[in-house]
Order: sequence, then C-alpha cells, then structure tokens
Amino acid sequence: MINYKEEIAKVLAQQVEGLEVAEIMDMVEVPQDSKMGDYAFPCFKLAKVLRKAPPLIAKGIAEGIADNPLFEKVEQVNAYVNMFVSKEGFVKDTLEEVLTKGDDFGKCELGEHKPVIVEYSSPNIAKPFHIGHIRSTVIGNSLYKIYDALGYDVIRINHLGDYGTQFGKMICAYRHWGNKEDVINDPIKTLLAYYTKFHVEAEDHPELEDEAREIFAKLEKGEPEEVELWQWFRDESLKEFTRVYDMLGITFDSYNGESFYSDKMPRFVKELEDKGLLEESQGAKVVNLEDVGLGVALITKSDGSTLYITRDIAAAVYRKETYDFYKNIYVVASQQNLHFQQWFEILKRMGYEYAKDCVHVPFGLVSLAEGTMSTRHGRVVFLEDVLNKAVEKTREIIAEKSQGVEDIDVEEVAKAVGIGAVVFQELSNNRIKDYVFDWNKVLNFDGETGPYVQYTHARCASVLRKAGDAVVEAASKGNVDCSYLCSESAYELIKLIHKFPAVVIDAGEKYEPSIVTRHIVDMAQAFNRFYHDEHILVDNEDEKIAKVALVIAAKDAIKNGLALLGMKAPERM
Ligand code: ARG
Repeated sequence: MINYKEEIAKVLAQQVEGLEVAEIMDMVEVPQDSKMGDYAFPCFKLAKVLRKAPPLIAKGIAEGIADNPLFEKVEQVNAYVNMFVSKEGFVKDTLEEVLTKGDDFGKCELGEHKPVIVEYSSPNIAKPFHIGHIRSTVIGNSLYKIYDALGYDVIRINHLGDYGTQFGKMICAYRHWGNKEDVINDPIKTLLAYYTKFHVEAEDHPELEDEAREIFAKLEKGEPEEVELWQWFRDESLKEFTRVYDMLGITFDSYNGESFYSDKMPRFVKELEDKGLLEESQGAKVVNLEDVGLGVALITKSDGSTLYITRDIAAAVYRKETYDFYKNIYVVASQQNLHFQQWFEILKRMGYEYAKDCVHVPFGLVSLAEGTMSTRHGRVVFLEDVLNKAVEKTREIIAEKSQGVEDIDVEEVAKAVGIGAVVFQELSNNRIKDYVFDWNKVLNFDGETGPYVQYTHARCASVLRKAGDAVVEAASKGNVDCSYLCSESAYELIKLIHKFPAVVIDAGEKYEPSIVTRHIVDMAQAFNRFYHDEHILVDNEDEKIAKVALVIAAKDAIKNGLALLGMKAPERM
C-alpha cells in the first residue's frame, strides 16, 4: 500500500529546505474534519527559519505541489497546507492491497518474529471462573492476536493460581465435610462451598486455621496425601476452565502457574540475600522499597514459606531464560498495580535489565449491582452461565427472525453471535474503566454491538452471493474502474479500510483492543451507509464489479478485525 505520509513528505521535502523526510513525516497531520483535507502540513515551525509568516509559507508550498499527480486538490488555509489526495489513486491502491492480502490484510512484519509473552486469564484453581475473569481472558486473547498479526512470535501463558495457603484450607474443609462424588459432579461449585464453609466455621473454631496451615506446610514438603488431593482439585478445576476456554476459542501454550515455581524459590531468596536486598522484619524477610514510595515487599514469611510476589520474580527470570522474551506482558487487574510495581522494581535492583521489558497491562474492576464480587461470600456470576445465557438468547432471536430461511446452522450461529456479543462488549470500552455487570446490557444486541457488526459482515456476504460467482471473481482481481468508487459514502468506507492496518499497530502499542473494536464499528457503519446510499448490483457491469470489489474489501476488513478480538464472522445470520 502506498505510504501516503511518506510520499507526501517526499513531495514536501522538495519545497522546504533543511528538513529531512522523516521530520516532515512527523509533522504531517490527518485533520479531524475531512473537509480540511486527507492530510495537512502545519507551517508554524518553519516561520523562524524562513523568517516569513506561516500563512505565506503555506501558500508557497501549496502552489509548489498543486500539480503533483498524488493530489486532487491542494489548499492553503491559514498556516496549513491542506492536501486532498487523488481519490482514484487512493481507492485503487487500497482495494488492491486488501484483495491481494485477503485474510492477511491488517497483518505486518513489524515484530520480526521477536518473542513476546502474553500472560492472561490466570484464574485461581478451585475457585469459580467468574465474570471478573472475562476481562483478563478476553483482553489477553485479543492482545495475543494483535501481536501475532504484527509479526511477533507470541507465547501464551496461563499463570494459574494453583498454589498458596488457600489449598491448606480447601483440603482441610474437604477432610471435615467433603465428599468425593460431589466434587466429581460439580468440582468448582463444590470446592467453593467447602472454602466458604471453612471461613464460616473458622470464625467459631480458630484452630481450623492452624490445621489448614499445617496441611499447606505438608503440601509444600510434597507429602503424597496432600499432593494427591491438590492435584485432583487442580485437574478437576482445569477441566472446568477448559470448557469455558473452548467456548471462547481460547488456547494457551503453557499452563505453568504458581505451583510450577514452588521448587525454584530457594535460588531467588538466596540471590536477594547475596545482593543485599533482603531485610529481616519480625522473622519475615522483606525488600524495603520505601525510598521509591513502594512500601515494603514481603518475600518470605516467618515460617519460611514464600509468597505470590516471590513466585512472580521467579517466573519472570524463568521466562527470560526459557523464551528470551522481547516483551513480557501481564494482563492483570489494576488492583494489582502495586504488586507489579514492587516486583518490577525488585527485578531491576537484582540487576536484571529486562525488568524494563516487563509490562503490566491493567484493567478496571467488574462489580455486581449487589456490590463487589466475593468468592468467600459466594457472591459471584459464573462466566460460563453468562456465555450460555447469551447463546440461548441468540438462539431464540434467530429462531424468530430466520423462519423459513434455510441453510443456516442455528446452533453454530447462536454460539458465534451469543459468545461474540459478550466478547465484543467486553472489548468495547477502554480497558481501564471499571464497570458494573448488568445482565440486560450483555444481552442487549442493539446499537454498536458485536451482533450488529457480525450482521454487517453477513450482509456483505449476502450481497456477494447475490452478485454471483462470475462477478465476484472478476472483482477479486482488483483491476476495477475506481471512478465508480469516489462517492462520499464509498470513499469514507475506503478511508476507514485503508486505516485498519495502522489501527492494529496503534492498538498493539497501547495494549488496547478497544481501539480495534471502535474501528470495526466505524467500518460497519460506513459500509451500511454505502449500502443504503447506493445501488451495488447495477446493470452497468463495470460499475457493478467495482462496487462488489469494495464489498469484498469491507467484508475482509471487518472479518479480520473481528478475528483480532477472537470473534467469528458468520456468512449468514
Ligand atoms: N491468579 C491471580 C488472580 O486471580 C492472577 C495472576 C496474575 N499473574 C501474575 N503473574 N501475578 O488474582
């Protein structure tokens, strides 16, 4: 695709002395209002050097470049040179790019196969996989897709919370009140019930806490009975998580969670000690980070057991040694900001320069109308229930709307659209925003939602079916008469399609899938405007082929965008 900024900078460089093409590229802007041109060049900065008023400079430049075939029109407005690129050239270039690349449109080689780790989902074993987890799971999956599209080699890690004192409590509860069949029948809900009961009982019987602590100590020592129960809880939980991951179409390259690092702790405790970073504090060992306002980080407890943070330090070093990451990304709730700041700082003080390549990508809190979710109090909305309900509702809508429409696989479409609706909504807002979970909102398919975008894609597909194979084939070659695609609605659509690859880069740099989501909505709306404003399947063969080429391009761009969110794009709805 023509890099317009670069081409324009080259043209401008011939007009302004003393500025490099790269510098000019940085100065070229894309005006908010397309009436001010597709690109604009502000001349304020040149005034000093050229000793001329900016509008005069702009006027000179505008006159100098007006005849260049790159442009349809060049105007000077105040201190700006406003440039309108030749529509036909732009349209042709964009269409050819999309049609030749197809599924690869939007991808690039920016990453040069450098290894990037995206750690996401990371739920806690034997705890419900609830609506709060959707955030890390879905944002992380999208960041994986985005980095993959940018040409990085992505390693997907699920850092399972499968270790810690809570397993002492769970095993303790199971031994007192548990029953094997119940666990097998409904593992997580049952284990959660035990865990909840433990806390209720422990209020009156504090000795239970001691018992749980002892059990955990045994687990750490590798006592077979405790390890067996723990392993069983882990396996059963993972089965449940996998059911949800399958629904979402999510997989991981590694499930190495906290327990994986449990035997790797001594090296790090010793290293911290040797590097003079550890301090004693009431029997415990800490790293004091007060000087940078990060408080004190607890590394080992007084009984010698290690903590969450110690395992994170070990995991980062392990990942560097195993994958030699270029970037190590953690998609974890903003409640853990301090935790990440602390251990990034500790890693730095240990002398690991790659601490700077570790990135915490935080997101806001999901709460319920009744208050924050609480596993201990059993106040949770299960993610699986949300996905199932969304599928169910979609099934009903499809059954209602598509009566008589054949060859639509209701089950398949209901899954793609129902689950897609939940995912799309999750990725619609800026990730850092908190939100209150609301059944009505997840199940609302009107407006700028996933179903709307998927429906637009299916509409494109339907136009192509009506156009017929011969026309589609001719259009796919891309060699079409672009003068038919210069109307306002066609051109606005093409501009958005053209921008898609840059949007993917931007979303990657900002770790923000909602930038892609927003752009997909914009493309879908622009397509629908084009669809309403114009007749696509007209009698004039050349015009029809040109317009069908644009439909193919729009369809591909929307589909590729949805793929980056982890969503399917059904051909029929
Ligand atoms: N298991 C943790 C939780 O559910 C999240 C783990 C985040 N990842 C990490 N490397 N600390 O809160």
